[in-house]
Amino acid sequence: MTGEVTREEFGRLPGGEAVELFTLRNAAGVEVRVAGFGGVVVSLRVPDRDGRPGDVVLGYDDLAGYVGDDAYLGALIGRYGNRIARGRFTLDGREYQLPVNNGPNHLHGGPRGFHKAVWRAEPLPSTEGAGVALAYTSPDGEEGYPGTLEVRVTYRLTEASELVVDYAATTDAPTHVNLTQHSYFNLTADPTRSVLEHEVELAADHLTPVDDTLIPTGEIAPVEGTPFDFRRPTPIGERVDAPHPQLAHAGGYDHNLVLRGEAGELKLAARVREPGSGRVLELYTTEPGVQFYSGNFLDGSIVGKGGARYGHRSGFCLEPQHFPDSPNRLAFPSTVLRPGERYASRSVYRFGVE
Ligand code: GAL
Repeated sequence: MTGEVTREEFGRLPGGEAVELFTLRNAAGVEVRVAGFGGVVVSLRVPDRDGRPGDVVLGYDDLAGYVGDDAYLGALIGRYGNRIARGRFTLDGREYQLPVNNGPNHLHGGPRGFHKAVWRAEPLPSTEGAGVALAYTSPDGEEGYPGTLEVRVTYRLTEASELVVDYAATTDAPTHVNLTQHSYFNLTADPTRSVLEHEVELAADHLTPVDDTLIPTGEIAPVEGTPFDFRRPTPIGERVDAPHPQLAHAGGYDHNLVLRGEAGELKLAARVREPGSGRVLELYTTEPGVQFYSGNFLDGSIVGKGGARYGHRSGFCLEPQHFPDSPNRLAFPSTVLRPGERYASRSVYRFGVE
């Protein structure tokens, strides 16, 4: 059996515009629901080692939850994943000022970033598998960024229980682009539990240390001998509260890890195992980095699906991306996109049990 896609109305925005919800299923019992608003992954049901399905992402029961959300639950992020220092950059001699929405800095594309956009959404042709294609035209000047950006993101669920996310973009003027996906995972499928027992392995020998506003200092530091060394599987909770200045800046893990391997090549970035359920998540990406965030800002104030309160560290994020503040760091891999070029990036979330 090949996978299937169904569509229904998710809800209506305050202005009356209808937003659709797409459900992708495969024969292995995996089910992914994606909304046209924010390109959000609303739910992701995967079986545990006994074949019992459970929803492994945080989110809301209805569209209004996503409209009001300020934690980026499940959303597509653009134009720029993570922070740009003071919301400023200079490109080809011109200075740009973006909205400052996180302390002194710009975060996740601004308050009206792609996570709040209504995307044009269609099921993928069945020859391409069970999937949904999302398109958005970001006008020149939106959230301060130059150039009209045409963005296309597809979510595809394979029979091997991989959620394949492909990102593409073109522009009519030089700009910066760094798209990512902001799902919070809890592989226990019980978000009233913390993620501290999840065992994480990261294919990273280095991180980009940050200042106390979470902007990279420019240094590429070895993980060796620090709580950021996840080269062997280690429970998140084992060192998350260790006395380390980098952990103190962020209240836990909230850092960009520099992935091993060639930029542009699809490579294993992370492997996470939840011992209780046996669920395993592997992340592959063409991106040079991954933001590992241990849900430190979750404080129980969000009421999510089924009325659950999302407490401290009840979800973790793995955001495949270019490094934070790259527009101001010429030594980091470039995020510049120019007319005639095509931005392309792929990330694969593969689910299994052990
Ligand atoms: C992460 C970011 C965190 C926090 C979170 C949303 O990507 O690194 O610092 O802003 O998003 O609450």
